[in-house]
Amino acid sequence: MIKISHVVALSKNNVIGIDNDLPWSLKSDLAHFKEYTSNKIIIMGRKTFESIGRPLPNRINYVVSTTIKNIDGVKIFSSTKEAIDEAYKECACIQKDEIVIIGGGYLFRETLIDINKLILTRVDCEIDGDIYYPEIDLSSWKLISTQSFTKDINNDYDFKIEEYIR
Ligand SMILES: NC(=O)c1ccc[n+]([C@@H]2O[C@H](COP(=O)([O-])OP(=O)(O)OC[C@H]3O[C@@H](n4cnc5c(N)ncnc54)[C@H](OP(=O)(O)O)[C@@H]3O)[C@@H](O)[C@H]2O)c1
Repeated sequence: MIKISHVVALSKNNVIGIDNDLPWSLKSDLAHFKEYTSNKIIIMGRKTFESIGRPLPNRINYVVSTTIKNIDGVKIFSSTKEAIDEAYKECACIQKDEIVIIGGGYLFRETLIDINKLILTRVDCEIDGDIYYPEIDLSSWKLISTQSFTKDINNDYDFKIEEYIR
């Protein structure tokens, strides 16, 4: 079965972004993000794409937007449903087994019902922001792994990465 997941880093008060950027610097989490998403199809909203500023290498980049039509190295879709439908087809075609939705708030909210895997980076802080991850009821999810990281020179806060499936 093809998995479809969210990979998201959130604070204790569910903040994921501020001023179209991340609210923290967590190098170890970015390294995990790179490793987890490599060689997969990633789907993102237009604002997340603009905040990253370029297609991510070694990944198939899908962007959902009604305002941008053409960017080298990126497949653009005018609706989230179109992007997900095409990602399933492409996954089957190239024998990949996971589609990863990488944000932002808009895309996460729209696709909460579609996903069967969650990779949550829980950042140990309460922080100001303007974009939030939706409240989710984890009672129907199963925690399959947890990894803890400690604040250090490369990571602004303690955090843990949890993987859930349903
Ligand atoms: N902490 C994390 O893990 C994480 C991950 C990713 C992003 N972020 C943060 O999240 C913030 C960006 O999130 P955001 O919620 O502002 O924006 P977003 O979800 O990245 O992008 C929103 C845009 O996507 C397009 N879009 C979304 N749904 C659509 C649909 N159904 N049909 C057509 N187009 C659709 C629209 O683009 P058009 O206006 O072009 O139509 C919309 O304006 C930034 O601060 C970023 O740093 C955090």
